Amino acid sequence: MRYVKAEHLEKGMVLVYTLYDNNEKILLKANRKLTQNYINRIQQLDIMGLYVFEDDEICEHTPTVSEQTRLKAIKSLKRLNIDDCIYIANNIVEEIRESESMIVETINLSSYDNYTYTHSVNVDILSVILGVACGLRDDELRRLSQAALLHDIGKTCVPIEILNKPGKLTEEEFAEVKKHPQYGYNMLKDNYDVSSVTRNAILSHHENEDGSGYPRNLTSEHIHLFAKIIHIADVYDALTTKRVYKDAMNPADALEYLMGNAERMFDKELVTIFMDYIAPYPLGVQVELSTGQKGLVVKNNRKMLSRPIVRLEGGALVDLMEHLDITIVKLLTNLNA
Ligand SMILES: [Fe+2]
Repeated sequence: MRYVKAEHLEKGMVLVYTLYDNNEKILLKANRKLTQNYINRIQQLDIMGLYVFEDDEICEHTPTVSEQTRLKAIKSLKRLNIDDCIYIANNIVEEIRESESMIVETINLSSYDNYTYTHSVNVDILSVILGVACGLRDDELRRLSQAALLHDIGKTCVPIEILNKPGKLTEEEFAEVKKHPQYGYNMLKDNYDVSSVTRNAILSHHENEDGSGYPRNLTSEHIHLFAKIIHIADVYDALTTKRVYKDAMNPADALEYLMGNAERMFDKELVTIFMDYIAPYPLGVQVELSTGQKGLVVKNNRKMLSRPIVRLEGGALVDLMEHLDITIVKLLTNLNA
């Protein structure tokens, strides 16, 4: 499959994944051919790009969490139905437990209209993957998943004018935003069937290893593992998503950012584990190799994600695990509009 920017979509291309509009209604089902009408609607939705099939190709990639579950989570967050969120967070653990692969190897396709909600779902999925990789038990994973899905729920208590302000925040406004972990903690306290570990992870998801985070300036040994996991997932997803005020960083650069800030912001050991599950060069992107040749990433090597299999422009396959002298020097696909 190939990633195509929305402006380059053409009639007759076949979608790999079902496409939903911003109200979570099906816009176009997977395996259907695009018509001009659909292309126009996709372009109106502010969707950056989509996956389409290459000629005569069979898609080998199944998402770690089903689209239906993602949509249910988005709807529950939108309606602020916390009981439903808790239920769905538990389902997400089950789906990830049963999935064939936990590797995150596709581009984040969500349109930025629904950012607040899709971001929370992405953070949940990334957190549970990291939690499974750390060997957490199922009951621990459920608590982690609940905290991750609801990590920013306290933002509903921050005035909307501050959250949506396009420019730089004043000191007072930023101080208000920084209260959202405490607001989230308070919202769940005594009202819902969540554990104290879940609430504390929400409270501490912006704490940094060196004590420079908020709201309590905790240092490494005082930050709970769940909060450390959510912190990594939160920053990774925020970096790789395009927002009105910033471009999306590509996965390779975002992973570099995490490692570059390990010890100061993030737990280094956790970042190292995280890197084993995130493909720096997602499926369907164009890359340039150190040989000067250009090609498409068609498959990832699970044991070494930085060395995928690339199909060159002439059709030949190059497995970078077998050609250690060849490296990827550049990502050619522009992930931003
Ligand atoms: Fe947050």
